This record gives sequence, structure tokens and C-alpha cells, in this order.
Amino acid sequence: MFSIKELQEIINTKIASEKIGREPFSLYDPINYTLEAGGKRIRPALVLMACNLFSEDIEQAINPAIGLEIFHNFTLLHDDIMDHADIRRGNSTVHKKWDENTAILSGDAMFIKAYEYFLDCESPRFRDLLKVFNETALEVCEGQQYDMEFETRDFVSEDEYLRMIRLKTSVLLAAALKIGALIGGAEQQDAAFLYEFGINLGLAFQLQDDLLDVYGNVHVFGKKTGGDIVANKKTFMLIKALEIAKDEELKTLKSLLSDKNIENEKKIQAVTQIYDKINIKQIVETRIEKLNQDALAFLEKVNVEKNKKSELQTLAEKLIKRIS
Ligand code: IPE
Ligand code: IPE
Ligand code: MG
Ligand code: MG
Ligand code: MG
Repeated sequence: MFSIKELQEIINTKIASEKIGREPFSLYDPINYTLEAGGKRIRPALVLMACNLFSEDIEQAINPAIGLEIFHNFTLLHDDIMDHADIRRGNSTVHKKWDENTAILSGDAMFIKAYEYFLDCESPRFRDLLKVFNETALEVCEGQQYDMEFETRDFVSEDEYLRMIRLKTSVLLAAALKIGALIGGAEQQDAAFLYEFGINLGLAFQLQDDLLDVYGNVHVFGKKTGGDIVANKKTFMLIKALEIAKDEELKTLKSLLSDKNIENEKKIQAVTQIYDKINIKQIVETRIEKLNQDALAFLEKVNVEKNKKSELQTLAEKLIKRIS
């Protein structure tokens, strides 16, 4: 069994040794810039951890794991254009440091590179793995489309929100686990339980991300806070606030959402003040804890020795308490 730390070391060493580049360097520089900035590397860690539940030979899962990480990084380049985000992992985003066209095209190249790594896998189940990857990539696009559409809608239900984040965020974590498990030789049933573990973990993960977008520390979080409020993102926080706020507060909140002339900083401050007043943070934290419990219940069903699951349990605990 490998520890998370050892697996992350393997991933980081591999990515660091794989400088992608040839002419035109202007296409590849932003890719290396993004990959070198690091991030938590959760998705490749999940691939290797899931594989390691069923096999000591994790070597065969490394390239697909890197492929998924590059895919994730690609989504960030395009997401940051869509979300008008200036900072990622403590650095200027690609479309700010270079320009939007560069971020689009370098992103496209990353998507292709992701497949190149993914392809470099000897598993006899490769066709199944590719199907999971393709379906997942398409679902992420669907989630991102809902996310954008929700910005301009007045009302989004909690169920619609959960479906949206399941698509934009959870399925990739779930797919990472499933792909790792299948490479490791898992039965379909166990791979399916791990997938559901990943779905619930992903929901908790995105709720935490929404929370940090309001309450995070930019220096630790690596992203500018308040972006979701400025964009009228229908986050769990906003959906709950619209549900709970009464009278004056509700009126103020609604008028802030429709005010097109208000300064960003003022809007962030005013909306946060309402969140504080009605204790939205507490409500989100309670839900995160519940989703984490749901996730762990699926992990428990996986048919491997209990002690082998402790690394994934620890990771889940760490993710819901994360500040970055
Ligand atoms: C950011 O993902 C996008 C979301 C799904 C919230 P991460 O928080 O995993 O980003 P990095 O890779 O660690 O930077
Ligand atoms: C992330 O959602 C989803 C994807 C990147 C596919 P966010 O837009 O909340 O992610 P961050 O906060 O920019 O990392
Ligand atoms: Mg987004
Ligand atoms: Mg974003
Ligand atoms: Mg976010």
C-alpha cells in the first residue's frame, strides 16, 4: 500500500519531468506554466489510490492519472475565461497573463495532450476506460453550460444546483476513482461503489469551493474571492440564502442580484453581510458533513480489507476541511 504522500510524490515527479514543448512555444508555455503551478493533484491521486486498493502494481495507472490531471487543468483555462477570473493557484490566469485566444488554444492543446497520456496504458480494459473518460468529459461540458445559464436565471432549485455540480465537478472525481479501480482489476460492482463515493465526495468538494469563494483567504486559496457573488453564480450559499432570507433581507438580496451598476467590492460586501446574518456558512458546513458521510458509506461497501481504505477516508476528511 502506498500513502497519499508517496502517490502525490510520484505524480509530481512525473509531471515535473514532462515539460511539454516544441514550436510554437507560445502555445506550450501557458501549458507548462499552468501545470508547474501545481494545485492539489487530487484527481491523479484518486486514480492511483483506487488502483492501489486492488493491486500493488500502480505503474500501469500513472499515465492515465496524468491524463486526467491535464484534462482538469485544461478545464481550468477555459473556466477562468468563462468566469472572468484573474488569479489561479496564486498566479495570473492564462487569459490575463497572455490573452483569451491563447487560453482557448492552449486549453485545446491540453485536451489533446490529456488523451495522449491516457492512451499510454496497457490495460486490457482500455476501451472501457476510454468510454468513462469520454462520457465524463462531455458531462463536464454539460455542467459548465448549466453553470453559465444559471447566472442569468432568477431562480434555481437546490436539485438543479446539485445536478449542475455533479456534472461540472463530481463526475471527474468519480471517474478518476472508477478508472483507477478498473485498471487495478476491480470487479464492476466495486468500481461502481467507488464511483458513487466520488460523486458524493465531489458534491462536498464543490460546496466547500463555493464556501471558500466567499470566506477563503486569497493567499491560501490561490483564487480571488467574491467572484461567484459578482457573477450571480447560483451557488449553494445563494440558493439557501434566497430560501431563508425574509422581508428586508430578501428584498436587499434580490436588489443586489439585479443591480447592474453596483461596484464589485460593494456587492461582495453586501451579499456576504446577508450570508453572515442568516448563518449560511453553518448551513453549508452541515451539508458538507452530511455529503461526506454519504460518500464514506459508499466507500464502506467496497469489497476490500478495511485497513486498505484508510487513505481514501483520510483524503475525504482532509478535503472537506481544506482551505485551499
Ligand atoms: C478547482 O479544482 C475546480 C473545482 C472543481 C472546484 P481544484 O480545487 O482541485 O483545483 P487545483 O487543481 O487544486 O488547483
Ligand atoms: C469548477 O467550478 C468547475 C470546472 C472547472 C469544470 P468553479 O468555477 O467554481 O471552479 P473555480 O472556483 O474557478 O476553481
Ligand atoms: Mg466556473
Ligand atoms: Mg471558476
Ligand atoms: Mg469556485
